[in-house]
Amino acid sequence: MSEKVIEMTGTILSVKNLSKHFIIKNNVFSQKKIINAVNDISFDILPNESMGLIGESGSGKSTTANLVLRLLEPTRGEIMLFGKNIADINYKEMRILRKDIQIIFQHTFSALDPKMTVDELLKEPLIIHNIVPVQELDKEVDRLLNMVGLPAGEKIKFPQQLSGGQNQRVIIARAIATRPKIIVCDEPVSSLDVSVQGQILNLLIKLKEELNLTYLFISHDLKVVRLMCEKTAVMHEGKIVEIGKSSEVLFNPKHEYTRKLLDAEL
Ligand SMILES: Nc1ncnc2c1ncn2[C@@H]1O[C@H](COP(=O)(O)OP(=O)(O)OP(=O)(O)O)[C@@H](O)[C@H]1O
Ligand SMILES: [Mg+2]
Repeated sequence: MSEKVIEMTGTILSVKNLSKHFIIKNNVFSQKKIINAVNDISFDILPNESMGLIGESGSGKSTTANLVLRLLEPTRGEIMLFGKNIADINYKEMRILRKDIQIIFQHTFSALDPKMTVDELLKEPLIIHNIVPVQELDKEVDRLLNMVGLPAGEKIKFPQQLSGGQNQRVIIARAIATRPKIIVCDEPVSSLDVSVQGQILNLLIKLKEELNLTYLFISHDLKVVRLMCEKTAVMHEGKIVEIGKSSEVLFNPKHEYTRKLLDAEL
């Protein structure tokens, strides 16, 4: 992706009037029910910015992430990634774009193929996206392990031989392997022990600085968002009810729903 496009548009990700409605069929009476999971939301994320997306369970955070990653098709609205409308790009272009936008999910164990060693898990994205020449794969795996704080000796192990925190480091190494510009983090530490959560968050902060990354950071934990994100959007029933600098939204909220979220934290 050309740096020029980002410079021109000034945004990494720009979402305008985005909606996703799910139609659920009630089996018994075959009545249709529409769920407005995401309902007319707009936001921009600038280069090297982290935007937190908070809100209670079911408010539409993961649906937003899936739309941005084009794992779901929107009902309405526009998603501009690096200045390109993702609705207009074909499968081949999307494959190339996937290198630039990566995701880190919540469920650490199910996110990794248990039959693959750490070495194989890290080589997979490097080979698929042709990141380095074949003769440099081993060196690149060692470099990635070092970046995420795992000893090189761990690469012969399988996911089930590692701790939750170590697995999350492997997931992060896979995400950065393709040298992305933006990483969508959907509750990246919520399945980890509290003691390990801090280590993983510090790793994400370090990588953001070293690799000039941009994050869309989904969390229901306001403490985490305060630490990680300069900007915060608050979702409630599919809508963004408040958006702005974290120092304002999370310390001096204007919207009643945000105040309720902050009160619930105490
Ligand atoms: N594939 C789907 N089909 C039907 N409804 C869905 C689907 N995916 C999500 N929903 C519904 O859309 C709404 C938003 O769900 P979403 O997963 O985006 O919430 P969330 O904010 O990520 O919640 P959590 O904090 O629990 O992860 C919910 O009502 C959910 O039940
Ligand atoms: Mg979710």
